[in-house]
Amino acid sequence: MYRTHTCGELRAENIGQQVTLSGWVQKTRELGGMTFVDLRDRYGLTQLVFDLSKNPELTELARDLGREYVIKVTGTVIERENKNKKLPTGEIEILASQLSVLNASETPPFTIEEESDGGDELRMKYRYLDLRRYPLQRNLELRHLMGIEVRNYLHQHKFFEIETPYLIKSTPEGARDFVVPSRMNPNQFYALPQSPQTFKQLLMVAGYDRYFQIVKCFRDEDLRADRQPEFTQIDCEMAFVERDDILDMFEGMTKHLFRKLKNIAFDYTFPRMPYDEAMEFYGSDKPDIRFDMKFNDLTSLVQGKGFVVFDQAEYIAGINATGCAAYSRKELDALTDFVKRPQIGAQGLVYVKYNEDGSFKSSVDKFFDETQLKTWAETMQAKPGDLLLILAGAKKQTQHALCELRLEMGERLGLRDKNTFAPLWVVDFPLLEWNDENQRFYAMHHPFTSPKPEDIALFDTDPGKIKANAYDLVINGVEIGGGSIRIHNRELQEQMFKVLGFTKEESEAQFGFLLNAFKFGAPPHGGVAFGFDRFVSLFAGLDSIRDVIAFPKNNSGRDVMIDSPSAIALEQLQELFLTLKKPE
Ligand code: AMO
Repeated sequence: MYRTHTCGELRAENIGQQVTLSGWVQKTRELGGMTFVDLRDRYGLTQLVFDLSKNPELTELARDLGREYVIKVTGTVIERENKNKKLPTGEIEILASQLSVLNASETPPFTIEEESDGGDELRMKYRYLDLRRYPLQRNLELRHLMGIEVRNYLHQHKFFEIETPYLIKSTPEGARDFVVPSRMNPNQFYALPQSPQTFKQLLMVAGYDRYFQIVKCFRDEDLRADRQPEFTQIDCEMAFVERDDILDMFEGMTKHLFRKLKNIAFDYTFPRMPYDEAMEFYGSDKPDIRFDMKFNDLTSLVQGKGFVVFDQAEYIAGINATGCAAYSRKELDALTDFVKRPQIGAQGLVYVKYNEDGSFKSSVDKFFDETQLKTWAETMQAKPGDLLLILAGAKKQTQHALCELRLEMGERLGLRDKNTFAPLWVVDFPLLEWNDENQRFYAMHHPFTSPKPEDIALFDTDPGKIKANAYDLVINGVEIGGGSIRIHNRELQEQMFKVLGFTKEESEAQFGFLLNAFKFGAPPHGGVAFGFDRFVSLFAGLDSIRDVIAFPKNNSGRDVMIDSPSAIALEQLQELFLTLKKPE
């Protein structure tokens, strides 16, 4: 028998018992004639003690144990002299009487403790060693529990979990597809699904009116902290529903998860904020509403006073950083540098200090007198002691930059506590997005998203103004999920393809199967998909989804542990009728 208990299990009640434990050696220490070993497994750490005076042979053996050796030890649970309050097993230790080395280990390339001294790449290369660390084990446990709770909730609400295929058809919309050549169908390719979108809609046509799936999705897009090329969705669809039925059902699921996994109860309905309002007050379709600091549009108030930066700007807006009037030159310079970073993109930063004594000091004193600055302060609901931060420029860019500045100020002022959660639904997204480069509309969500019925007439007059029956769940500035009511009517779907610039033949070739299905009694339906990795990392208080994924890819989309992607053999290429070209 390898073990009677795990390494996280023994307590003072077990004192006197004879036990056997197996696990990994985290550390050994010598103290006088004693050798102490920290033995680790998934469940915890237990201290082993070997006494040279009582058992010299065994103690010699213990002294030779290296880090990460796998051992089995038998001994008696005794009371520990130096109790360790931080460790659940800290009241006891095991006085060893037998020791066997089950497997030796090379010295690991980094320390395998709460904190590791290994850099990112190294830890990725030896991911199986990194995964031995408790922070990662806690994340994967949380992920496991969230999966269970999702299934519990959805099962209770009569959802079926149904798998959909991974080898599907490439479609031109959305991100880039990962494609897989077909050996049996020369020169043809499967695509890996970016989501099960069309399949879940077909399941609605098939009468499975509540579907979900915890499912891998694949997108060949540029990676960021919250994006992986393969990631997991909690993908859901319902038939015979209106928007609010879906929002209620999945707000219920979100609350269930918070209650079960974070012990947090929300006793209110999540706010439902129209997209236009989110953009106007937060400059983002995923506002972090843990704190206020809303945008104030100053365009009409500040133009025409001879300050060219303002006079030439399409849009001027500011935020009120409460209590920051005492910011030093250095701090203001740092903020200016921040907004000028290429990824933020502002030209410069205008500040107005509303000093405690009621006076004003600004970077535009030359153009605006105290009376004018006072009007700004009033508009922005500022009080003495506050600092106004203002950006000007093209609207979209300035909204983006001010949004980043707002988040930065929120961070500096400690308003973005990881243990505070502020969920909301952003609703009424535009249906279409105009792309200047390609001179065409793209679907903001996907081409199956239904327009709001009252906007359908705009297809012929002003498609850019059509609002979609679409919604996102946003928590703490993170887009956790998104979905929509779908088009279930063939004519409307064709109208949508037309505005996206598909010819009849193209839409038939790409989505004929769906359009056909819609001929056979498609029920009204809609759904949503949540980013499972993002949900877990939000609950774990992490900034990146990488550490809630057992084997993630790095920023270049590589798995450095298995060294993938990699070249394949010539025979494999031949079998697939492929020849390779050297990249330019
Ligand atoms: P969408 O594209 O908004 O919707 O995706 C749903 C959610 O998936 C998460 N997500 C990602 N997570 C990690 N890495 C990525 N690369 C990544 N891309 C997306 C986000 C996002 O909110 N079929 C539709 C859903 C629907 O309409 O029902 C869809 O896929 O949290």
